Amino acid sequence: MRPKPTIIDCDPGTDDAIALWLALGSPELDVKLVTVAGGNVGLAATTANARAVVGLTGRAVPVVAGAERSLLADFRAETAVHGADGLGGVRLPEGPPLAPGIAADAIRTVLRAADPDSVTVIGLGPVTNLALALATEPALLGRIAEIVLMSGAWSEGNITPAAEFNAWNDPEALAMLLGLDRPLAMATLDLTAQAFVTPELVSRLAQRQGGACWQAALGILRALPASKRFGHRGYPLHDPCAVAWAIDPGLFGARPAHAVVDLGAGPSRGRTVVDRWGRLGLAANHMLLEALDAPAFFDLLAERIAALP
Ligand code: BDR
Ligand code: CA
Repeated sequence: MRPKPTIIDCDPGTDDAIALWLALGSPELDVKLVTVAGGNVGLAATTANARAVVGLTGRAVPVVAGAERSLLADFRAETAVHGADGLGGVRLPEGPPLAPGIAADAIRTVLRAADPDSVTVIGLGPVTNLALALATEPALLGRIAEIVLMSGAWSEGNITPAAEFNAWNDPEALAMLLGLDRPLAMATLDLTAQAFVTPELVSRLAQRQGGACWQAALGILRALPASKRFGHRGYPLHDPCAVAWAIDPGLFGARPAHAVVDLGAGPSRGRTVVDRWGRLGLAANHMLLEALDAPAFFDLLAERIAALP
């Protein structure tokens, strides 16, 4: 099968870094562009991290900077999870310079040059860049085969009781994407909870030999803090789940569903209200990823990243 032309919008971010390596190590995806938003640790650090992560693979994929803030507010960072540097203290060699331009323009340029229904757009952070790119020039929507997001939750949140971090950091942008008439898949917190990393799993993964990217990925997996939400037994590995769907949907159970984002100013702001059982009788606006074959997912992740330089 022809590799899928792919754009990845991200905010690295520990799990973004692992997701980027998974994508860049997978022949199913032809990564044309990486765009970056502030998100997890502020734009200066997320762009430096994206450059370093891509640079470590030796691949000449352009990395373009984008939003420093969401459509209506500032981003809130998540240094407690990702560390002040965004990579859990794992030091990487400086990557190649940023490519010129601004994320939304770069996304539109890739889409303009693409065939109809061909491009996979993966969003691993607040989706400000994607919303800015897709809000104008509606003809470009027809170039998109699928949008895949790590975003939202059908149960509880992780940045507020109600909302997941990426959704909460730019709910208006997420609402725009859910309103586009294109295939869209969402890996929510309820799905990523199944990509659960324990110290035992990391020890098992570490038995595999690999190059610098794999050693750095293992360093990140060791550095991520265990989650209070899971009784400190381990933590969920979020962003690689979205990339894995683009590589092999056979790893997932999924159902079409309707979701809306709470855009109010109250405590539910950013909550994704997901109608899993069609109670509202509304047409589905996304594919909800519900179940993950976790052993196969971690095998794929290890195999692909360990094969990188
Ligand atoms: C999401 O928030 C970020 O901290 C992670 O990189 C992931 O994209 C999980 O809620
Ligand atoms: Ca992220």
